[in-house]
Amino acid sequence: MGSPYVNASDSDITDSTSVKIPSSPLERVIGQPEAVRLALVAAKQRRNLLLVGPPGIGKSMIAQALSFYIPRPQQEIRVVHNPQQPERPFFEVKSAEEISREREETSYAEGYLSDPRQVPPSVAERLGYRCPKCGQYSSYTEITCPHCSSQKLQGPGQGPFGDVFNVIGAAFGVQNNQERVTSTRRVGERSEIIVYERAGEMVRVLDEKTLERRRKMEKKNPSKVIIPLDRNPFVLATGASETELLGDVRHDPYGGHPQLGTLPYERVVAGAVHEAHEGVLFIDEITHLGNLQRFILTAMQERSFPITGRNPQSAGASVRVDRVPCDFILVAACNIQDLQTILSPLRSRILGNGYEVLMETAMSDNDENRYKYMQFIAQEISTDGKIPPMSYEAMQIVIEEGKRRAQIVDKKENALTLRLREMGGLVRVAGDIAVIEGSKLIEPAHVREALKLYLPVEEKIKRSYGNLQNAMSSENTMSQRAEEYFYTYTSKQDDPSYQ
Ligand SMILES: Nc1ncnc2c1ncn2[C@@H]1O[C@H](COP(=O)(O)OP(=O)(O)OP(=O)(O)O)[C@@H](O)[C@H]1O
Ligand SMILES: [Mg+2]
Repeated sequence: MGSPYVNASDSDITDSTSVKIPSSPLERVIGQPEAVRLALVAAKQRRNLLLVGPPGIGKSMIAQALSFYIPRPQQEIRVVHNPQQPERPFFEVKSAEEISREREETSYAEGYLSDPRQVPPSVAERLGYRCPKCGQYSSYTEITCPHCSSQKLQGPGQGPFGDVFNVIGAAFGVQNNQERVTSTRRVGERSEIIVYERAGEMVRVLDEKTLERRRKMEKKNPSKVIIPLDRNPFVLATGASETELLGDVRHDPYGGHPQLGTLPYERVVAGAVHEAHEGVLFIDEITHLGNLQRFILTAMQERSFPITGRNPQSAGASVRVDRVPCDFILVAACNIQDLQTILSPLRSRILGNGYEVLMETAMSDNDENRYKYMQFIAQEISTDGKIPPMSYEAMQIVIEEGKRRAQIVDKKENALTLRLREMGGLVRVAGDIAVIEGSKLIEPAHVREALKLYLPVEEKIKRSYGNLQNAMSSENTMSQRAEEYFYTYTSKQDDPSYQ
């Protein structure tokens, strides 16, 4: 990935619109070269990735960007009714070609549309398009003929051929009502069944071949698409519940009774692991999944996971679809403190087929990285969409603030902080001030003003009370005082939650 910095000199830049925003998502991630490189490898080779680092440095951004570098999903997954054992539906995987072939077949089975004037007059009358009195045509929704004011529709069976139609219709399993008329037509020596159906202001014509196709399709076991072909290959499972993560079979108060209830296959719902099939499953704060981590482990191992009703009290609990595919790339994220609580077999599974990355919290302060910071500012402004561009001078103040924070928070000299969510917040606050002032650009004054406003509340407390401890003793209740936290961190430098 080349940096646009090579051809840019600062003198060309008047404001953030002169900074080029890369079109490819991973190039938008600044200051994390190792994570970006490994994300590309993970996408290409389908490996897992564990991103370790503090909040707001681009973990989610990298995970999402990675999903742009993998091929589009090729498979659709369906659950199919199992007539022998409805509580054990099958699953079926369909490729894109199979699906388009099926669609073609369906469209063949749809017959063709015809103008009501092109079908036999008696049929047009029975479908409600033609007035039997005056022979004029009008919409079937008009019960009385707009031309002669007589009533257009006759009840079924009342027409001169009513009985004949009904007999033929019954033989072909079609009801003869006003939406559908069964008739015959001569093809050479023999006569052929033909069905006319109301289709809005048109008539759908189904000949014998089409009817045959329809019947064949209807004979197939019914199925339900649980994972469509056209889906987002990036699935977020942060904080997912067990059912969200692994899928479920919904409850049916009629216990799947054939007439009253909903058939089991229709109640099957996929989980995030299945939705991420062929894509990326992203789990932020992976340790918060607790025990569910071991299911992820199984899913990764088997590349499939059964879907079953997860509530033992529910009628769904007796339903199970075995080995539903879930071949995903796992991208997990956590902070350094949580590293030890990742289930160790899961971690070994990630390492055994993937990479672990320790994210950078700061990058060195040099011209190239200052250019990247400007790129970051331009990106934030463009994705926000509600604030004007930022002047070159104002961007320099943001960069200086980045440098100050690297020093205070990350304890790094001559560096620029990469805790960029917070820096993005600063850009937005400055932008809002510019908007309220009606300025076309975010100017240095706006950023300075934002810096005053955009302080973590601890900092604001310190400014009004001197230090946190003073604030505590004057404002806190006894129970809060017991919290070690408030006594431990008397300065922002010591406070790990300050970014
Ligand atoms: N390295 C980066 N390059 C460019 N922009 C970044 C970077 N890191 C963060 N940002 C900006 O900050 C926002 C928040 O980042 P992101 O959601 O990726 O953080 P995170 O590391 O996943 O944080 P958390 O641990 O809180 O989920 C991004 O949407 C992006 O606008
Ligand atoms: Mg995140």
